[in-house]
Amino acid sequence: MVTLTENPLRVGLQQDRIPEPQILIIFGASGDLTQRKLVPALYQMKLERRLPPELTIVGVARRQWSHDFFREHMREGVEEFGGGLQSEQLWKEFAEGLFYCPGDIDNPESYQKLKSFLAELDTKRGTRGNRVFYLSVAPRFFGEATQQLGNAGMLDDPTKQRLVIEKPFGRDLGSARTLNRVVTQVCDEKQVYRIDHYLGKETVQNLLVFRFANAIFEPLWNRQFIDHVQITVAEMVGLEGRAGYYETSGALRDMVQNHLMQLFSLTAMEPPNSLDADSIRNEKVKVVQATHLADLSNLDRCAVRGQYTSGWSKGKQVPGYRDEEGASPESVTPTYAALKLNIDNWRWKGVPFYLRTGKRMPKKVSEIAIQFKEVPYLMFQSAAKQANPNVLAMRIQPNEGISMRFEVKTPGSSLRTRSVDMDFRYDRAFGQANTDAYSRLLIDCMLGDQTLFTRGDEVEASWQVLTPVLDVWDAPAPPEVIPLYEAGTWEPVEAELLLNRDGRRWRRL
Ligand code: BG6
Repeated sequence: MVTLTENPLRVGLQQDRIPEPQILIIFGASGDLTQRKLVPALYQMKLERRLPPELTIVGVARRQWSHDFFREHMREGVEEFGGGLQSEQLWKEFAEGLFYCPGDIDNPESYQKLKSFLAELDTKRGTRGNRVFYLSVAPRFFGEATQQLGNAGMLDDPTKQRLVIEKPFGRDLGSARTLNRVVTQVCDEKQVYRIDHYLGKETVQNLLVFRFANAIFEPLWNRQFIDHVQITVAEMVGLEGRAGYYETSGALRDMVQNHLMQLFSLTAMEPPNSLDADSIRNEKVKVVQATHLADLSNLDRCAVRGQYTSGWSKGKQVPGYRDEEGASPESVTPTYAALKLNIDNWRWKGVPFYLRTGKRMPKKVSEIAIQFKEVPYLMFQSAAKQANPNVLAMRIQPNEGISMRFEVKTPGSSLRTRSVDMDFRYDRAFGQANTDAYSRLLIDCMLGDQTLFTRGDEVEASWQVLTPVLDVWDAPAPPEVIPLYEAGTWEPVEAELLLNRDGRRWRRL
């Protein structure tokens, strides 16, 4: 059990301020993200009185919806995917700030029309020219939309206009560079918020606090004491009707380049000088730039892909990836990826970081496990065949928390040892649900705090790490090239070998 003591630690990541009045313009507003995540998150903040009363939301998409239709559609989203309306009165106030403006991403006239509509809203709702443009459109339109916003003069004022770009930012190093060029031609990096919702998760932010607000871990956080690190993001879901996107993306682009690399960099980075956005982001970039696949001359020894076949999930039979609607029957798109990464710096030289992610795994679980070295000499051979090394596991989700595994003597006259866990759980300690990741990120963006957003050079650095794998995995190949695993089971054998060859095992979670 954890006892909470009042801690006056002031963390720059914690923002309790209310943002300035502003308009949030969501491109792609007819899509799932707006209805399931963004608007429910905004409404939740409204309920918590964290939004300025003037906050105005304008949905933009091709469909010819009316304001009222949009409001109704969003209401359904809040009821179904959020925490419900809770108060008709508050919903009414919120809905009065919801508008819809049909438009085409590639049509300059749509931007002119939007521009005058926003100016009208400024007068009507007192939003003072402050804008956040949120690109929740298909990734291939990020560049076009940014360019058009720039041409229409809607990103000219760095103090008032911000741009949020969803993931994936590019599909490889070349396209990420091109997109970065487009973005920085029309606006300042200070205006750009590349979003990765993992950074909005409470447990992910806690990595910084855990590492740098405690004196006891940092001295151990290096090659002297750590044997290796395992980062796992396992999902139970399959394709969820997203074949159109996923077939051109796959696990590496969908999860590794962004979410797993974020977990990786926060675990491996050096302490920043301060908690301001650039100090933190500088350290993250530095460690990613020092990272590479463990064996560039033999990729099979450091990168494994996999694809699920039919199997069982939550007691139901589920189809294999190639039988999912919209997926090619010959597809070699990976739904699983495992990598072994090395970092060339003084702290980590020789400590492998193993990353894995997969869909249709037996469990939904994300964690970072730091496995410490074995004791140099074990005195208890007669009692235990071997002592298990200490493991510090930071559970990102679900059952958010941190546990430390260590050996103890089992009670009794003989000398036997056993592993036990010392466990901290967020729900037990704080008794409250974690803030939704999108709420956190939306509010930070409205406040102009870039700490939890990815900078252009960091995105490029992480694509750079993955480029050798992408080059091979993207090449046309026969279906049998990809190792298979049954839905509802852990990784393919090849991925087990990735660790077994090093005398290690994946954690069974
Ligand atoms: C998204 C991916 O970014 O993250 C999805 O596109 C994935 O494929 C999702 O399912 C996982 O997010 P979470 O928060 O449920 O771990």
